[in-house]
Amino acid sequence: MIERTLCLIKPDATKRNLIGAILSMIEGKGLTIKALKKLKLTKEQAATFYIVHKERPFYNDLINYMTSGPIVAAILEGENAVKAYRELMGATNPENAEQGTIRKTYALNLEANSVHGSDSPENAAIETAFMFSGLENC
Ligand code: TYD
Repeated sequence: MIERTLCLIKPDATKRNLIGAILSMIEGKGLTIKALKKLKLTKEQAATFYIVHKERPFYNDLINYMTSGPIVAAILEGENAVKAYRELMGATNPENAEQGTIRKTYALNLEANSVHGSDSPENAAIETAFMFSGLENC
C-alpha cells in the first residue's frame, strides 16, 4: 500500500550538515520526497507538535532541544512508508539502533537522535498537516 509519512531532520543533524546525507539514505530506501523545507520551530509550535508527550519527564528538554536550531521537514511517500521509514530511522535510543539505520549512523544520544518519523498513518496525516500547508504537497 502506498502511504505518506512525515520526516523531520532534527537540530543536531542540521547543525552537522547532515541534511543531504540523511535525505540520501531516505531516497536510497526507495522512499520519494514529495515536499521539503527548512524551518525553525517556536517553543509553542514544538510544544504542540509533541503534545502527546506533555506528561513525560523529558518534555521540556525535548521542546528546548527541538527549538535549538533549524529543522528540515519532508513528506515521504512509498510502499508502507510509515513502517519503512521507521525501520530506516532505527530505535529511539541510538545505542539500541541497528547497523545501517539513520540513528545508528548519525544520532548523538537519546534526545539528539537526528530524525523524527510518524508512528502511524493517522499521526502522519496530523503531523503533515501541521508542518505543510498543502501547497507544497505534490
Ligand atoms: P518517542 O515518540 O518515544 O520516540 P520516536 O522519536 O522514536 O518516535 O519520543 C519522541 C522523542 O522524545 C524522541 O525521539 C527523543 C525524545 N525522548 C527523550 O528525550 N527521552 C526519552 O526517554 C524518550 C522516550 C524520548
